[in-house]
Amino acid sequence: MHTPARLQYLKIKKEHENEILLFRMGDFYETFDKDAELLSSELDIALTARGMGKGEKIPLAGFPYHSLETYLSKLISKGHHIAICEQTSDPTSSKGIVSREVVRIVTPGTIIEESILDNKSNNYLVSIFEENDLFGLSYMDITTGEFSTTQLNFSNIHPEISRLNPSEILIEENTDTDLDFSAHKTTKIPKDYYSLSNSIDEIKKYFNVNSLEPFGCQNLPLAIQASGSILKYVKKNRKNSIIPITKLTTYSSENYMILDKQTSNNLEVFHGGRDKNQKYSLLSVLDSTKTSMGARMLKRWLGQPLLDIQRLQIRLDSVESLTENTLTRSKLIQILSSISDVERIINNISIENSNPREVLSLANSLEKCEKLRNEIIRDQNISQKLLWTTKNIQNHSEMISEIKSAISENPPLTLIDGTAIKKGFSKELDKLIQTSQQAKSYFSSLEKREREKTNIKSLKVGYNKVFGYYIEIRNANLEKTPENYIRRQTLVGAERFITDEMKTYESQILNIQDQITDLTNQIFKELCAKISSVSEKILSTSNAISKIDTLSTLAQVAIENRYIKPTLTNKTILEIKDGRHPVVEQISIDKMFIPNDLILSTTKDQLIILTGPNMSGKSTYIRQVGIITLLAQIGSFVPATSATIGLVDRIFTRVGLQDDLSLGQSTFMVEMLETASIINHATNKSLIILDEIGRGTSTYDGLAIAQSIAEFIHDNPKLGSRTLFATHYHELTQLSKFLKRACNYTVDVSESEGEIIFLHNIIQGASDKSYGVHVAQLAGIPKQVISRSYQILDELEKKTNFKKDIKRSKTEKQLPLMPSDTIIKSKLNSIDINKITPIDAINRLAELKKLSDKDNN
Ligand SMILES: Nc1ncnc2c1ncn2[C@@H]1O[C@H](COP(=O)(O)OP(=O)(O)OP(=O)(O)O)[C@@H](O)[C@H]1O
Ligand SMILES: [Mg+2]
Repeated sequence: MHTPARLQYLKIKKEHENEILLFRMGDFYETFDKDAELLSSELDIALTARGMGKGEKIPLAGFPYHSLETYLSKLISKGHHIAICEQTSDPTSSKGIVSREVVRIVTPGTIIEESILDNKSNNYLVSIFEENDLFGLSYMDITTGEFSTTQLNFSNIHPEISRLNPSEILIEENTDTDLDFSAHKTTKIPKDYYSLSNSIDEIKKYFNVNSLEPFGCQNLPLAIQASGSILKYVKKNRKNSIIPITKLTTYSSENYMILDKQTSNNLEVFHGGRDKNQKYSLLSVLDSTKTSMGARMLKRWLGQPLLDIQRLQIRLDSVESLTENTLTRSKLIQILSSISDVERIINNISIENSNPREVLSLANSLEKCEKLRNEIIRDQNISQKLLWTTKNIQNHSEMISEIKSAISENPPLTLIDGTAIKKGFSKELDKLIQTSQQAKSYFSSLEKREREKTNIKSLKVGYNKVFGYYIEIRNANLEKTPENYIRRQTLVGAERFITDEMKTYESQILNIQDQITDLTNQIFKELCAKISSVSEKILSTSNAISKIDTLSTLAQVAIENRYIKPTLTNKTILEIKDGRHPVVEQISIDKMFIPNDLILSTTKDQLIILTGPNMSGKSTYIRQVGIITLLAQIGSFVPATSATIGLVDRIFTRVGLQDDLSLGQSTFMVEMLETASIINHATNKSLIILDEIGRGTSTYDGLAIAQSIAEFIHDNPKLGSRTLFATHYHELTQLSKFLKRACNYTVDVSESEGEIIFLHNIIQGASDKSYGVHVAQLAGIPKQVISRSYQILDELEKKTNFKKDIKRSKTEKQLPLMPSDTIIKSKLNSIDINKITPIDAINRLAELKKLSDKDNN
């Protein structure tokens, strides 16, 4: 026999088998059975047992309700999904068992708890739907109201996921995909979530529209399916609560430069340094945004560099005007510092998860937003340039005064005692508060009155939770007790009493207290509803503020670090004068950073072979070119004295040696995979940065691969990309003899009396020494080893003269554009087994065999 509570639990748990069910019992969230065991081991809390029926002892673990956020954050970070089951009837007034209901399912992509969220990052939930190597992708951030969708091909899906860095990815259960989601938490959802007709209905119903046309995705079925599935999932998780999404936007990744994970890692855009933290990244140099919304916007800009020269020019002109007008800029930055996270606040308000303090801060911030706009308009030098942002700052004066007239000046976080509402806003509330105060003042003066009446000096009025207000008389004075005193409690040495009059006032206070709370709640709710009815206007303002914050930050950083405005062009050139690496120059403050020039173009200097000693600055130089290009394409100034940037469609990088043991791939395999992907995807408009290709294998193999890749990039008409190639294979410098657009650069070294000084200065020419042993010496390798190394080096150099004898082989074959595996696979895919004749089948087989043989030779 189960107890009724146990029965109720089992029924609810049955519907939430995939989640940990937190079952509210009074002041605790309890878990039972397997959930309890899991909870206890994950959170390190005690596992006990509770009787819940005859002879039945059930494992139990729980925690107090007020610790929910702390524990939620731990459970979510460990990848669990949590169902929160609350008591939905009042235990004091309901007969029998309290009713309970799951009010929310919390998953990594649907959390709203501020303490768990990172305010400088978006918290994206992504859904992906795949059909015939095409992907629908949709993402939502329920803390900011963003909801967007797109369709992508296979090669673009990973970069997009890495850009969004979602906390949770939804995919269809039983799906058989080649995508690698290992870096993210995934949730498998039923197939019907992705049905096209359901998805269309889901979206139409949610937005209350007849067609998907306004969202621009009417002809993108996979995007619709991904979006429909997200909506359904979020609705299911949030039960009856509101979802703060007001629109769906369709975007195309073609409008942005793809910044794949490889490149963003290699250029250390978001994370850098040895331990890959944020400290030594490009973002860390740039991010002095003053608002969390601005920080999120800057991150978004960095992840989505633009390809459109006009849009970039608008951003650059805005940054320029802000750099030129120091006074206004510093005023703007000062105002921005006092603006709260309007974007998340308005969402909290819409989902009824806000408090009076937050609402007041919204009003204050909106006021500041208007001030910011006025400040910009006042300065004629910048107002025109920033018009594209300021025009979206809406007028909120009505809302601001509405909030300010309703919420008191220093409001508490809760609505309990009515102090959150300003005096004068509601006559009814004021009256209730007045009556309550009168009743309270009856008690505060009661002691004095009763002492006078009874002539007992030690008479005391007190309050406790069990008996409420009481009058206490010491035993010595008991004979003076008036007749109307009713005995309540006997203590050692004293008695406690109440009177009828006290009872009346007391119940009045309690009654009024409830009325005050109810009315305060009602007023606050109405106010929030009013605010959320204009949420779109507020979001428009917050978006504009984020942009202004980002632009002012870029301007401030440009001034502080001496960046200049790049000239943008659609020609395939790159010309940088005195370029610097924005992160390395910050780190090496004690040393002067040596600036370097660059000239690259698809027609003349297309392929730079950069040789030079270890530690001389080759890697730094080629990365700085990538970073400067990236900065220019987000609309930022760049670390140089002048720069002409021919926009690139993508920056490809292959840098350093990395093992990917988690994927079971060797160092060299990873290197080759990444290189293959580069030469298969790069175009005439791309920028390719190769650092020591071929180093992971034997010298001859490595050299052979490095040379043929350089030749391929140079010769293949589909590529011809602007390329920087740093290498220790000094033999490659010979390439400039037979590759027309290849040129040699090296890093200057000063060598005198055995002293070697790295000048970090890039000059034309080739180097034939690596000074590797010298660097080993600097690193503290024992003297013995060093002198022996020099000895061996000497012998080797005498013995071999392979340095000078690389040639272009006459019988070279052109590499296929795609590896034949891919070709074979796509040919196989195109065969329809049901329609093919036996003869045709044999012919096709022969064709495939031929392809495969060719590959083996
Ligand atoms: N232009 C520069 N001005 C000042 N210091 C620099 C410059 N370039 C690089 N350095 C310093 O030299 C160090 C080594 O640079 P980097 O890693 O680019 O050398 P490298 O030539 O790629 O070496 P290796 O061949 O061993 O890979 C950097 O960490 C930096 O401290
Ligand atoms: Mg290097």
